[in-house]
Amino acid sequence: MMLRVENLTATLGRAGILRGLDLEVNAGEVVALLGRNGAGKSTTLRTIMGLTANRAGRVLFQGRDISRLPTHRIARLGMGYVPEDRRLFSSLSVRENLEAGRREPPPGYRGEAWTPERLFELFPNLAGLGARRAGKISGGEQQMLAIARTLMGNPVMMLLDEPSEGLAPLIVEQMARVIRAMQSAGVAVLLCEQNLRFARAVASRAYVIQQGLISRQGEVESFFNENSANDFLT
Ligand SMILES: Nc1ncnc2c1ncn2[C@@H]1O[C@H](COP(=O)(O)OP(=O)(O)O)[C@@H](O)[C@H]1O
Ligand SMILES: [Mg+2]
Repeated sequence: MMLRVENLTATLGRAGILRGLDLEVNAGEVVALLGRNGAGKSTTLRTIMGLTANRAGRVLFQGRDISRLPTHRIARLGMGYVPEDRRLFSSLSVRENLEAGRREPPPGYRGEAWTPERLFELFPNLAGLGARRAGKISGGEQQMLAIARTLMGNPVMMLLDEPSEGLAPLIVEQMARVIRAMQSAGVAVLLCEQNLRFARAVASRAYVIQQGLISRQGEVESFFNENSANDFLT
């Protein structure tokens, strides 16, 4: 088991944003967390990373309880997180952004450590852009760069917040290839999505979150076998 979330709750002000959420990601698995706007997807990822103040429940990462650890320690254990707003250094070059993400592999890391050169193979559309300022590349390229920079920290698992959002169809396809390549490299992935087709292209299993609770779960393919497949997103 890579990640196990048990009865996770998060409150903001007086509102319960997450109301007792359970989910699991196995080693080597890509899992989607699907839900419409405001359902609690981003809050789930932020809470796993220790970024919400009022939280309860348990988060086990590689068997270890991380639910009370500060964010930087969670990251150092090998959890990569790419938030929706990317947080690139826009005045630094693409290569400098990658270098800014470089970390020693976490304990127990078995793969080969990432280098900019290896990442340029995985992200061919970034390969020619090493010297360009991050603020000057396209939105899709920035999304790729945010993921690549996080991979420079040699995570064993990645949390991706709506990686396909706002991307042109061709770039969405590249993003799907990148996620599959990460999986081949041994990185488990939990990604938030509203794009069911994208989730289907990359994930084997999915959870649906509605108002801070998991309302259904299963093989992604099973979500396409009924007329109501899209109801939870429309
Ligand atoms: N900083 C915040 N303060 C108050 N409410 C928030 C804050 N962030 C998110 N929320 C509320 O929490 C709920 C879940 O938000 P979020 O996790 O961003 O959903 P999603 O990512 O699925 O769109 C929404 O109802 C949203 O309005
Ligand atoms: Mg969100």
